[in-house]
Amino acid sequence: MKGFTVVPALVEDEHAMCDIFLNHISTHTEYISHGEIQMGVGEGKFVDGKFVTGVSPQARHYWMKYIHGNMTDPEGAVVNKAVSVDGEIIGFCVGEIMEDGAEPFGMVCDVLVKESSRTGGVGTALLNSVLEWFRNKGIRDIYLESGLANHSAHEYFMRRGFVKVSEIYKLK
Ligand SMILES: CC(C)(COP(=O)(O)OP(=O)(O)OC[C@H]1O[C@@H](n2cnc3c(N)ncnc32)[C@H](O)[C@@H]1OP(=O)(O)O)[C@@H](O)C(=O)NCCC(=O)NCCS
Repeated sequence: MKGFTVVPALVEDEHAMCDIFLNHISTHTEYISHGEIQMGVGEGKFVDGKFVTGVSPQARHYWMKYIHGNMTDPEGAVVNKAVSVDGEIIGFCVGEIMEDGAEPFGMVCDVLVKESSRTGGVGTALLNSVLEWFRNKGIRDIYLESGLANHSAHEYFMRRGFVKVSEIYKLK
């Protein structure tokens, strides 16, 4: 990457981030985890006994609702964007503090970099920005979830200290 900065995203960036997100998941349905399915962005079907993920027809509506909720909750969530030297949004990340446990814990919800801007350190900078935000809030217990077949991303996160701790099952 020629150069980039990671800064907080603004409400007016929501549509551009949504475009990056939908563009990615419509061609890489392996990104879709149970979380995207539960929030109405993705779909999961059993085809010949195999679990197949896809994009919901209402994906844009539900994702905009999700991102707007996080953008307008500065205490409970962080949304950062990576911007190229030309001012283009080339990636973003989302982290949420979940309060429904015994102690608050962190969820890295999304880390996504445009295909043309990958392997130049943007993803690592975005991930580190979320982890730093959690640390500054005193959150040490940090999770992420990822689609079943998103293998290269799993390896990417494991090289950055994440360890698989659970599996999710869905009734057919
Ligand atoms: C995962 C992702 C965010 C990384 O972004 P990035 O800007 O490329 O990240 P970096 O430049 O910091 O690191 C690039 C990594 O990709 C690896 N890589 C390089 N070429 C690759 C390729 N063709 N296929 C897979 N990984 C590759 C590099 O080895 C490097 O990992 P390492 O530093 O551990 O060796 C990006 O690939 C992406 O947006 N993927 C799709 C979305 C996704 O699945 N996100 C994670 C789920 S939440």
